[in-house]
Amino acid sequence: MSSLLNELDVLSAEALAEAETLADTEALEAFRLKYLGRKDGRLTKVLSALPTLSGDEKREVGKRANALKGAIESSLARRRQALDDARITSELLKSKIDLSLPGTPVMRGGLHPLTRVMEEITDVFVRLGFSVAEGPEVETDDNNFTSLNHPPDHPARDAHDTFYLKDHVDDKGRPLLLRTHTSPVQIRYMRSHTPPVYIVAPGRVFRHENVDATHSYVFHQVEGLAVDTDISVADLKGVLTLFAERLFGGQGTVVKTRFRPSFFPFVEPGLEMDISCTICGQKGCRVCKGTGWVEMLGSGLVHPNVLRAAGCDPEKYSGWAFGIGVERVAMFKYGVDDMRLFYENDLRFLGNFS
Ligand code: DAH
Repeated sequence: MSSLLNELDVLSAEALAEAETLADTEALEAFRLKYLGRKDGRLTKVLSALPTLSGDEKREVGKRANALKGAIESSLARRRQALDDARITSELLKSKIDLSLPGTPVMRGGLHPLTRVMEEITDVFVRLGFSVAEGPEVETDDNNFTSLNHPPDHPARDAHDTFYLKDHVDDKGRPLLLRTHTSPVQIRYMRSHTPPVYIVAPGRVFRHENVDATHSYVFHQVEGLAVDTDISVADLKGVLTLFAERLFGGQGTVVKTRFRPSFFPFVEPGLEMDISCTICGQKGCRVCKGTGWVEMLGSGLVHPNVLRAAGCDPEKYSGWAFGIGVERVAMFKYGVDDMRLFYENDLRFLGNFS
């Protein structure tokens, strides 16, 4: 009997000490099998020897063995709980959300200033009843030049440094090109619509130019065209002056316009419109170069050759047209003196406009 009791003492000391060192679920299970395993568990063996013992012995060993079994089971449970707690705590620590941290800022998008100005220009005319028309960026020589009264070999073509497409020709065998202005939309629209025509055509145009503060090989224009019976220069001046007032005036800013004779092959007469400098109120500044006036757009009465080329009878209809540079307007409106800023897409610059 004393040998079994001794063995129980040893088992108890070993098992309870070992229980405290168990580090994971596998170790817990191995430990359980080692002492309580059905077949080879060390304590199971003691318990299974009980029937061979006599009365007192059986009672004493049985009592101690069962007490030890309870102790081992509860230390297993404690250990399992401790391991679970530790795992949960470490997982919580890993995924800890610090509510006092500042948030990640989300940048707000906005329209590019050139898009904005192009829409503003277009809007003024849409409110006056004009429709929006668009044309392709790749054009025929005919639409970009010939029908706009630039016959082949006409020197005015040289003023447009044209990009021609390699290996792409129109049905007359003339190379296709990147439109140098939005004026070809006039031709396209008149060919597919009968007057009255009142349209604005915003878009991108291309010229083979070096980039500097006031030039770029890609820029934007808005074209305007009104064709109807009895159109006169008075209509042109009236509408374009109203346009200048709506775009640049308001809130006490008075805008004046003046028209100077100018030459564009597709209009006769050709007129350039200046607006009074709203930056200095015509006192003279860097923007208006001390003159009090700023060049704003080209315009004129549509040349009879253009009406004819586009299938409109010049005896019946007359028209006026204009073309305005979007970058120019944006620079003037926002006091930007280098056009390249609009193309660099530096968010520190663009952020000023949204
Ligand atoms: N297409 C001309 C250019 O790019 C601008 C222009 C001038 C358009 C007079 C017009 C106009 O419609 O009447 O320089």
